[in-house]
Parts: sequence; structure tokens; C-alpha cells
Amino acid sequence: MPSLNDIRSTFLDFYARNGHKVVPSSPLVPRNDPTLMFANSGMVQFKDCFTGAETRDYVRATSAQKCVRAGGKHNDLDNVGYTARHHTFFEMLGNFSFGDYFKEGAIPYAWELLTKDFDIPKDRLLVTVYHTDDEAAAIWKKVAGLSDDRIIRIPTSDNFWQMGPTGPCGPCTEIFFDHGDKIWGGPPGSADEDGDRFIEIWNLVFMQNEQFADGSMRALDMQSIDTGMGLERIGALLQGKHDNYDTDLMRALIEASAHATSSDPYGPGKTHHRVIADHLRSTSFLIADGVMPSNEGRGYVLRRIMRRAMRHAHQLGAQDPVMHRLVPALVRQMGAAYPELTRAQALIEETLRLEETKFRQTLDRGLRLLDDELSALPEGSALPGAAAFKLYDTYGFPLDLTQDALREQGRTVDTEGFDAAMAEQKAKARASWAGSGETKDAAIWFDLSDEHGATEFLGYDTEKAEGSILSLVSAGAAVLKAVAGDKVQIVLNQTPFYAESGGQVGDAGILRTSTGRARITDTRKAQGLFLHVAEVTEGEIAAGQGAELEVDHARRASIQANHSATHLLNEALRRVLGDHVAQRGSLNAPDRLRFDFSHSKALSAEEIARVEAEVNGFIRQNGEVTTRIMAPDDARALGAQALFGEKYGDEVRVVSMGTLPGSAKGTDGQTYSVELCGGTHVARLGEVGLFVLLGDSASSAGVRRIEALTGEGALAHLNEQMKRLAEVASLLKASPAEVVERAKALVEERRSLANELAQLRREAAMGSGDAEVKDIGGVKFLSRIVSGVAGKDLPGLIDEMKSSVGSGAVLLISNNDGKAALAAGVTADLVERFSAVSLVKAAAEALGGKGGGGRPDMAQAGAADASNAEAAVKAVEAALEG
Ligand code: SER
Repeated sequence: MPSLNDIRSTFLDFYARNGHKVVPSSPLVPRNDPTLMFANSGMVQFKDCFTGAETRDYVRATSAQKCVRAGGKHNDLDNVGYTARHHTFFEMLGNFSFGDYFKEGAIPYAWELLTKDFDIPKDRLLVTVYHTDDEAAAIWKKVAGLSDDRIIRIPTSDNFWQMGPTGPCGPCTEIFFDHGDKIWGGPPGSADEDGDRFIEIWNLVFMQNEQFADGSMRALDMQSIDTGMGLERIGALLQGKHDNYDTDLMRALIEASAHATSSDPYGPGKTHHRVIADHLRSTSFLIADGVMPSNEGRGYVLRRIMRRAMRHAHQLGAQDPVMHRLVPALVRQMGAAYPELTRAQALIEETLRLEETKFRQTLDRGLRLLDDELSALPEGSALPGAAAFKLYDTYGFPLDLTQDALREQGRTVDTEGFDAAMAEQKAKARASWAGSGETKDAAIWFDLSDEHGATEFLGYDTEKAEGSILSLVSAGAAVLKAVAGDKVQIVLNQTPFYAESGGQVGDAGILRTSTGRARITDTRKAQGLFLHVAEVTEGEIAAGQGAELEVDHARRASIQANHSATHLLNEALRRVLGDHVAQRGSLNAPDRLRFDFSHSKALSAEEIARVEAEVNGFIRQNGEVTTRIMAPDDARALGAQALFGEKYGDEVRVVSMGTLPGSAKGTDGQTYSVELCGGTHVARLGEVGLFVLLGDSASSAGVRRIEALTGEGALAHLNEQMKRLAEVASLLKASPAEVVERAKALVEERRSLANELAQLRREAAMGSGDAEVKDIGGVKFLSRIVSGVAGKDLPGLIDEMKSSVGSGAVLLISNNDGKAALAAGVTADLVERFSAVSLVKAAAEALGGKGGGGRPDMAQAGAADASNAEAAVKAVEAALEG
């Protein structure tokens, strides 16, 4: 009996053998469709190849595509577990031709694979065709030899396949398997077609048209093929089962669920196990593709599926979280075909464990409330909307979880009452916000957020994606369109653009629609909405359009390099300076990073060198940067650095990087930096390239600020420094290696030359200028007026003048470029009578100067104007005369 893994390989090998390129499944979150919540068929990743908007280097492809149908248009969630063939997650096997073969190729391939490789008896197969498609009917007759009653013409949309309200489409032919008359049901198109006897196994779509939003349709330039076959269905058939949940893969998961809950896999809890097995697949694959549980958008669909499974585990009597314990069984089954599952195993387990631990805190009480409500209701009547809302709001029960719980009792929920209660709560939140004094400008963001919910951020995983334009806002008001030259803020349902927060600046880039283009210069956040600050550069863009969004990759890469370097810097500072270091602020811009932290003194050159070397060491180590979502307590236990005073929700994103050789930090003892952070980072630290610390300065009391560069910027800075060094070397006529010695020698030489010069000046001064010895009332007074003698050289000269008079007072005035430097001296025998300080002050005053100071035997002063030095001499004479 072939396993599901064998069947998948047989399918892909068959088409590879026939010239098809085996293309891996695209992620569950479509990058190329703004309206689609999840990939729901194999053709999604190829949709532009059919319309001709995209060409690839192959024209035939085959794939096994991960699909989720839960939330949005195709929603199978409610039926999962209760039927034989509903899943939230399934795999679609397909082959595709882009303008290569058409019906005449697709039908024979399908027939050969089914009847030869899969060895299905021909007489168990029948097909439908679109009622006007004579060509397909003729090919079936020729290729398969089917009788007319086994080629059924269907006039309804069942045989005209459309991707959605717009996009490529065309008539199709579906292949059915007849399970035999032991099972009730009629062939397609008959009154009993809903029975289970005839099961559709494969849909071949003949892509030949494109549908537009205005209802019109055009013929495509080329005719293409898109086929889809659910692996679970064909698997059941080939394994001789009637129920998809009886296939080997699903049984392995069901048995893991039974083992983890110590219950019988196929007993009374059978439905619970089926729900758990299915939901384990969808939740794990969604997490592996970057979706995280939240209360909005895709994250909320994930949360709904998870919690639904968790309630079923609870029904089985599980006392502890169960789902995460089933992940290894899933990885064993599917990890080889989908390596992303293996790579994300730890993240999946952690996310499931966290969600289940949290949900269990309210699940019991919620179920008790539900029981109480139900016991007060008449038999069979619907649960009031207010009660369902309370379960939602207080106990975290998504509406479909409550509906699922009631289904077992044949009851429903009053959904109108639920919606009314939800609307009332929103109105209350709005009223309390209106009273909170926020600016009026913000009202528009509140309105839009109310109307559309938060913007979904895709930018952790991709820099390119499509989004639907929900609103254009100009000067605080919504506008319908914007034309070239207009500046607007654009709100979309989803975006790869990071909005400024946590020190990381907002992304810039390009937005394109079918009618215009805009340059996005910044992205900000308000009320959960991402506001793309834009200038329309070509044509016009309008609300309601789909848009291609492309982040400026080089700019984002530099920002990320700076952000990751900031985390390393934060840790390096703590290790070099001490545990008191705490982040006080940061900026991660494309061209630089800035980091403020608590520390009271300047960093020494040695500390700076150590920090820089440590950061660069981890960059060269080139380790992976990993991201996990966890409960704040678990993050703290890991030693995660959090921002002081910041409020964190009940789940936090934890970014880890760098591996310490055997040192102890946190519980895993190995990770260098662990921080709570919502920003984007490099995938591996080597991408940071290089880290150069420019310097540190005081930011405010007790807070230092470091500025640094990474990557290209750091290299450019170092190159600039090298260039300067080369210039200096050339000036010094030395090699760069000799520059320091040569500079030291120059400084030494300059110092001795300066000394020599001063000496010469002194000698010249003493031998020149006006010198005069007078007798003032019996006291000898020697005064001298010179020029060009520095103030610092005056005291030495005063000493010489005092020796030359023996006993008396002396005054020296130097005219230095028009300014006066003055010094006065009194010999020791006279200091009781005269003070050099008073004498120099009197001299300075005569030259318009103020002040002067020193000791009674020698004092100095300065004055702005030396031109009237004689007056200063006179003033001192007057002072000596008393
Ligand atoms: N797109 C078609 C389907 O989903 C065939 O792949 O059924």
C-alpha cells in the first residue's frame, strides 16, 4: 500500500519525467495576491504566468502545494472532524502548462497517471466537462475510450473554474471515482450527486479567460493548464479507504493524539482526534510560514484553529497542554517533504505550548459559564449573543469555538446578538477614547482602524507583497484618489513595510497599482494601522485598488545591520562596563546607529576597543539570528533584556544572537544576546559586515550616547581615515608605519625649538627696549618696556631685574601685538612696604586693564592696549611715592 509520501513522489516524478519543472510549494501566506488570506490551490503562485504578466524560464511545472481553507471565502473549518473529507490544511498536487500544451496534453497525462502509475481500474472512473466543451469530450472519448454516459456535461459553474472575483479562469473537466453501489449516491449532475458514492478526485482547468472586477472577461493570449488533485483524497482511494482520516498519515497523527491523551483513537473520542490531527497540520504549517497567533487577520484565524483543537483536547480529558507534544509525529510524517516544518519545529512547539497554557487558564471557567447558560435555556434554543460575546471577550472563546461546542448538542448561537454586543463594545471604547484628550487629527486613524482592523505586517518574511488599498488620507481626511505630485498617507490591509517603532526607522520603497506609482518615503503607525507616507510619482492611485509593494532592499538591509549591531553593542557594553548598563534609547537608521545607556562616565579608549572587538567577533562568527514568541516570564527566565518602563503584552517576541563558547547566561547557557524586540534583523550576523564605534558622549545626567557605523558605512569611514593617514604620511615623508615615531620626533623638536626661541626672546628683551632706573623717594625703581615676550616668560625676567637692582621695585611691560603683558616685582626687603600686586594693578589700570594678581614679591596682569606704556610706568612711580 503506497503511503501519502509515496503518492506525492509518484505524482511529481511522473510530471518531472514528462518535462515539468518540480516547483516547491509557495508559502501559505500569498505574496502575490492582496485579497487572498491563504494559498488555497496550487495555481496561486503561478497566477501571473497565466495572464502573461510574468514569464519564467519554464513553461511546464508541477507542485505539491500547501493549502489552508479556513477563514475567508473557502472556509471548511466548521465541518472539520465531522466529515470524511473536510480539512483546514491539505496538499494539492498539480501540473501546469503556461501556453504550452492544452486539453490535448492535459487529459492524456491525467489518464495515464491514474490508470498506469496509480493503477486505478478504468471502469471506476468517469468525468464531467463544461456543457459546451465538445473538444474536451472528444479527447476523453478518444484517449480513455469512455462511453458517453461517463462523460457528463455540466452547465453550471461547477465546471467553470474561477480563482476569485478577478483573475485567470476557464472551463474545467473533473475526474470522479466510483466507490461502488455499496455506498449511496448518484453520478455528478444527478439528483443524488451529494451522496458519497461518486467522489471527485481531480480538476483539470483549461485556462483561457481573464475575469475583471467590472464583470467583463477577455480571452487570454495563450491557453494554459492548471490542475488540482487533493493528496488526501487520492491517498484514501489508493489505500482502499473511503475516509481521508483513515490514510496512513492522518492515522499516525490521530494515534499520536490518542497516545498523548491516553484515549482510544477510534472510540467515542474519534471526532476530537480528527479535529486535533487536522488542526495540528494547519497550525504547524502556518507557524512555519511566519503566522503568529493574534487577535487580527491571519493571526486570528490561526488562534481560532488552535483554540478549537485545544478545546477538543480538553474534551478528551487532557489535564496539560497537548498540541505541542504532537509536533514530533507531524515532523516525522511531513518534515522530509516540507523542510520548513523541520526548521521551525522548536518555534511551532513553543508557540503551541504557550497558547495552550494561556488558553487553559480560562477554558475551564468559560466552559462552566457555557454550561450554566445552557442549563437555563429551553431545550434546543440558541445561545444568546451576549453570552457568546462574554465567552469571546472574557474567556478567549472565538465564536466558532462556541458554535463547535454547541454543535454536539444540536444548538446554535444567536450571531446577530453576538455582532450587536461586539458593536456596542467598540462604541464604548470609542467614547472613552474621545474623552481622553487625544488630538483630533488622530480621529481618522481611529475610524479607519475601527472599520478595517489592524494592518497585517508581512515584513518579517518578505520585502515584496501585494496589498489592497483601504484608504488614502490627505490632511487628516480620506480621499478617493491621488494624482502625480500629491502627498498622501496610504493604508493597506497588509504590507511588508516596517513602521517606525522601537528605535528602528520606518521603511521606504515603491508602491505600484495598475494606474500609477508612488514613492513611499516613510512608514509610521497609528491605532494599529501602518501609514505609508507617500508621494504619487506617476498616474493616479485610488482606494480599492490592489497594489504591489516593494521595500527599498538596500536601505532595509542597512537598517537591519544597524539594529542587530545595536543588540550586540548592548550586550558588549554590559559585559565590559557592568550590569548597571541599561538601554535608554536607540536609533537604527540606514546610515548609522545611536545607543543611549545608563553609565556615569566617559568610556576609556581601552573600553571602547574592547566593546568594538567583542561586537566584531560575533559578526565574524556569523551565527543565525533567531526569533521566538514566548510568555514574558519565560523570556525573563532566559535573561532577555527588556526596555525599562516599557509595557509588554502577554506574548513577547524574543530575538537571540551570538553563541558564547561554553559560558553561562540564561537557562540555555550559550546565547550571547537575548532581547525583547519587535524589529527586523539580519538572518546571520555576518551580514552586519563590520562595526565601528565612532565615539561616546554625554546625553543627559548619568546617560551616555554611543554613535556607531556598520557595513558599508563603517568601511567608508575607515577608508576615509586611511586616506587621511596616507596624506599625513606623505607630508611627513614617512611610511604609515613610521608616522607615529615621526610625529613624536616632530613634537619633541618643536618643543625644544620653542624653548630655544623663548630663551632668545628673553635675552633679546633684556638687552633691548627702554630700561630706566629711577630713585623714587629712596627706593630704586627699574622699569622696562619690551615687545614680543610671552606672559609666561615674564616672571623669570622679573627675577633677573630684581637681582640687578638689589633692593627696589621693578616693572616689565611687553607689547604683544598691541596688547600688554605686565609684571611687577618687589625685592624681599621691601615687601612690607610695597606689594607687587598693587603695583601691577596700578600699571594695568593705566592701560585700561582690570585686575592682576600674584604674590607681594611678584605679580602679573594684562591689558588690551599697550600703546601708552609710559603711562603705566608713571602710575607705578606714583604708587611708590605713596
Ligand atoms: N485551481 C483548480 C482548483 O483549485 C485546479 O487546480 O480546483
